[in-house]
Formats: sequence, C-alpha cells, structure tokens
Amino acid sequence: MNTSVAIQINGLTKYYGRFCALNQVSFDVREGDFFGFLGPNGAGKTTTISAVTGLANFQKGEVRIFGFDVVKDYRKARALIGLVPQEFNFDPFLTVEQILIYEAGYFGVPKREAKKRADELLGEFQLSAFRRFDFRKLSGGLKRRLLIARALMHRPRILILDEPTAGLDLELRYRLWDFFRRVNQEGVTVFLTTHYIEEAEKLCQRIGVIHEGNMIEVDDKEELIRRRSQNMIEIKLDRNLNDVPTELSEMGVRLGSGGSSVWVREEEKSLSKLLRAIHAHGIEVLGVHVKKTTLEDVFFKLTHNGNEPTHRF
Ligand SMILES: Nc1ncnc2c1ncn2[C@@H]1O[C@H](COP(=O)(O)OP(=O)(O)OP(=O)(O)O)[C@@H](O)[C@H]1O
Ligand SMILES: [Mg+2]
Repeated sequence: MNTSVAIQINGLTKYYGRFCALNQVSFDVREGDFFGFLGPNGAGKTTTISAVTGLANFQKGEVRIFGFDVVKDYRKARALIGLVPQEFNFDPFLTVEQILIYEAGYFGVPKREAKKRADELLGEFQLSAFRRFDFRKLSGGLKRRLLIARALMHRPRILILDEPTAGLDLELRYRLWDFFRRVNQEGVTVFLTTHYIEEAEKLCQRIGVIHEGNMIEVDDKEELIRRRSQNMIEIKLDRNLNDVPTELSEMGVRLGSGGSSVWVREEEKSLSKLLRAIHAHGIEVLGVHVKKTTLEDVFFKLTHNGNEPTHRF
C-alpha cells in the first residue's frame, strides 16, 4: 500500500446505459496536492467524483483512497474524504446546526465532539447567526459555506470540491480561496473542479484535464503551461485596418478583432523589424503588449483539438 498516494484511479470506466461517461480514466493525486480537475460541461468530472466517493457504481477499473478500495473498503475509504457536491443535497427537515452534527454522527464522531466542531465551523464560515435556521432560508452563498463546513465535520484527509465557488460574489470567492489554501497547507489534499480556470491557475499545483470521458492531460501546472507556451504580441495601431498588408502577413502578423490591432507570435520575427515594417506602411504604433500563455489558453487548446480560441482575434 502506497500511503503517499491519496487518490489512485486506474482504468475507471463508467456507462450510463449505453453511453460511456468515463473511458479508462487513470491518474493519481498525491497526498498534499492541490489538484485541479478541469473539463468542459459534461466531460465527466462529477461522475468521476461520484465514483471516488462511492455515490455511483462503475463497470470497470479500480479506485483507491490512501490504499483503501472504494468498493471493497467503502466505509474506510469514504471516511477519509470530505465532499462538497455540485448540487445542494441537504435534508430539508434539519436546521443548519443539525446538518453539521448529523454529518459528524454519520462518520462516528461522538455527539459532544460534534457539537464542538460544529461551533468552530459555524464561526469559521460566519454561519453562527443562522444555526437554528432551516437551510432553505439561507442565501446561495450561505448554503455553499454550509456545504463546505459539513464536508469538514469529520476532519477528512482529502477535500473534494465540485465547483465550490460557482455563482459566488468575488469577495466570498476570494475568502474561500484563502480558506482552501490554508486547509491545504495544513496537510489536507484538495481536489478541485471549477470552470473558473483562473481559480485553478491561482490555487492548484497539479492539473488534470478530462474531455468527453477521456483523461487528456495530468501534469504540474507550470509544466503544462510551459510545454504549450505560445506568448503573443499585440500591437495597437492608430487606425483600423481591413486586412493586413501582404508584407506583414508574410511575417506571421494577423489582424485583431475590430482591426485596430495586429497579433504576432512572440518568436516570429524581431520586434524592431516588425515595427519598422508597420511604420513603412505609414501606420503609427500606439502600444505593444505581450500576452503570456495562461492556463486558460492551454485548457482551450486541449479541449478544442489544439485550435486557438477564435474569440481572441
Ligand atoms: N445519472 C445520469 N444518467 C445519464 N447520464 C448521465 C447521468 N449523470 C451524468 N450523465 C452524463 O454523463 C456525462 C458526464 O456528466 P458529468 O455530470 O460527470 O459532467 P461534468 O464534467 O461534471 O459536467 P459539468 O461541468 O456540467 O458539471 C454527461 O454527458 C452527462 O449528461
Ligand atoms: Mg459536474
């Protein structure tokens, strides 16, 4: 048993009827990682999480949590995970505080200890004033915080977050980022799915990309970006062009949207030569801006057969 691997997924294959939602998915999440699990809508992220947490069966493959098989050793594996699901799934008859205490009870935490932890987490997430509320009276942001607090009641070693900041205002999102970082620094392995690629870029050091049920990348974030790095230079012009003069297009220059700027790959030609060529056409340059490759650019290419986003140009 390799205890430094928190989540080990091997050949995971899941069908919904005849539809293959996960096709031979394999990857590891190491203990202490902050892992970003990215993919377009319908890629299979939530299905993977459901298999990892034992909420969905699967036809082939194996999932282990710190060595415990999620099927054969379900309770041991599940007890190591705190799950923040994509959808709210609270019992409608419980108050905020009861939701936390019952969750701890499910994992065998004694009542007194559960009460103490609930107090701490209600304080941490500024939910104390709502402790006797029926959860249906909470706003979306409060419900999200309650989902996260609930996931932590049994002090899991892995925190799985399925779009935890969807629909939240900026301030709450930033506060949650700080919180997730802190939890991870304290040694909890964090597995995050999000459509805010910038969020993954800020928080995660490992990235996995899934597309139509297939894992297409797993790597360190820096390495993933470096391997596909293609910095672009944007040159703002003093007028709108309908098309790029032939001499410039031969230098790899492309027209930007609106026609008031042109783009070129950073290494295409020396910048001074390019600027001279633009001047020679009687065009003034108003500014030059280098756009570094971001995780978002890489993600877009990976999920669009290597093509650049057309909306950028
Ligand atoms: N219970 C189900 N029955 C049938 N098909 C399902 C079921 N749940 C999910 N699917 C299908 O499986 C595929 C993967 O869905 P999943 O929810 O895992 O995607 P996701 O990556 O989490 O997407 P999103 O970003 O929209 O949450 C989708 O095509 C979805 O329609
Ligand atoms: Mg999902």
